[in-house]
Amino acid sequence: MKATIKPLTQRPAWKALAAHHKKIKNLHLRKLFADDPKRGERLTIEAVGLYLDYSKNRITDQTLKLLLQLARESGLPEKIEAMFSGEKINVTENRAVLHVALRAPKGAKIYVDGKNVVPEVHAVLDKLTEFSNRVRSGKWKGHTGKRIRNVVNIGIGGSDLGPVMAYEALKHYSERSLTFRFVSNVDGIDFVEASRDLDPAETLFIVSSKTFTTLETMTNAQSARDWLLKGLGGDVKSVAKHFVAVSTNAERVSAFGIDTANMFVFWDWVGGRYSMDSAIGLSTMLAVGPDNFRALLKGFHEVDEHFHHTPFEKNLPVLMGLLSVWNNDFLGAQTVAVLPYEQYLKRFPAYLQQLTMESNGKHVTLDGKKVDYQTGPVYWGEPGTNGQHSFYQLIHQGTRLIPCDFIAFGNALTPLGRHHDILLANVFAQAEALAFGKTAEEVKAEGTPDWLVPHRVFEGNRPSNVILADRLTPEVLGQLVALYEHSVFTQGAIWNIDSFDQWGVELGKVLAQRIVPELESKTAPRLKHDSSTNNLICRYRKLKSAK
Ligand code: F6P
Repeated sequence: MKATIKPLTQRPAWKALAAHHKKIKNLHLRKLFADDPKRGERLTIEAVGLYLDYSKNRITDQTLKLLLQLARESGLPEKIEAMFSGEKINVTENRAVLHVALRAPKGAKIYVDGKNVVPEVHAVLDKLTEFSNRVRSGKWKGHTGKRIRNVVNIGIGGSDLGPVMAYEALKHYSERSLTFRFVSNVDGIDFVEASRDLDPAETLFIVSSKTFTTLETMTNAQSARDWLLKGLGGDVKSVAKHFVAVSTNAERVSAFGIDTANMFVFWDWVGGRYSMDSAIGLSTMLAVGPDNFRALLKGFHEVDEHFHHTPFEKNLPVLMGLLSVWNNDFLGAQTVAVLPYEQYLKRFPAYLQQLTMESNGKHVTLDGKKVDYQTGPVYWGEPGTNGQHSFYQLIHQGTRLIPCDFIAFGNALTPLGRHHDILLANVFAQAEALAFGKTAEEVKAEGTPDWLVPHRVFEGNRPSNVILADRLTPEVLGQLVALYEHSVFTQGAIWNIDSFDQWGVELGKVLAQRIVPELESKTAPRLKHDSSTNNLICRYRKLKSAK
């Protein structure tokens, strides 16, 4: 991808958007809807079974036109092509970015350094399938001959958040006779609580780590090994029956003592936060079975195809990404709330936090120049309706602009009385209230005393998207994740940043490694940090020795 692209703020569309924003910044959604009775039908897209209503964004047709022009001027078409064709678009790590290959159908051809990677992807999928079937059917036995009833995934970041989110999201489809736990935090309590009621003879650990060097995961894996050996009488041969690994690093896996025959690989062209559909999804496959896992991949692939081939004005992730740029860079929104009205998606916002913020939390462009505009916003959220009785107050009446993505489904997986209608009424009501609010006149007309009126006014004009799908199936989950992946890609392409590296997590890791021996040393260490860090270390040493 060699086309020269102007710095963002010098692109004609950016300048036009800035001028356009000045003109329309006081335009209210009430007026936009009043002037165009069909707006709520017009500003929608339906594709691959997902319906996006983006009419409640503070945009006009001209805004959209300019955003689409910005996408072209930013080289988005070429950048998409570069990703799908295996170019090394993760420039700071000199890597291709090919999570799309993980869900490509068997016959597809996607090349990295001249090699078609799709056959390898399917070979791993087949190996995962075979292993999952053996565990789920009870053919895979633990060291003492008992079948596996508990699966514990040990990983962190992308090696944890995707598996946890998918397990929770697809619980309806999961094998309920198996217990799943996820250990990520190096805080020992995470492991202690996850293992306290498990029988080692029936427990399988999946050590998931792309690098197999991550301190948290290696520490937890070691504790798991000790726990297993203690529970099974110390026979090291038991490790082979109770530990499997998912990694790109066979050498480290073997050094840890896991037989590489029980290792499921992935590749350096899969970013950690883009890996839930690689072998990192082993716990997901064990929970929901290979067929459902393949349905999940199908959903991902459908959105990949849509993103790759659909004109931008009808392209779901492109539009979502562009709207996010508009809200972030022109309307000044610093965060995005993701609000799934589906209890099974309770971990979806947490999953998106890594996907969005590790990807687009960058302060320099691809060529290393400091940006003079805002990049990735803060993503956060909770499932509805819980958030309504907590932080929605601030979204409705606070001083900050918080664009919201509402996610909802036409059908509950397990219908229960009136629950689903009430749930969905709340989604629609919230989006309506945010957009249109309640004027002082309306409040007064209800007989509210004058002094109370300002408190009860809702200014409205708060933007939101509503994403609707039929029901939460594995396929739809794949679609939703891919939708956000490619929206993140679109935003990163506009900002001209590397959405696929994560250097920002390195410094803390290095400093922690330096401090660990200072905390563990039997004699007082010679500390060379700043006075605050030195003092905190001394205080901690005193606290722990006072025990
Ligand atoms: O947080 C940094 C990071 O490198 C993530 O990108 C990654 O998902 C996580 O750590 C875990 O890394 P690994 O899978 O190599 O243990």
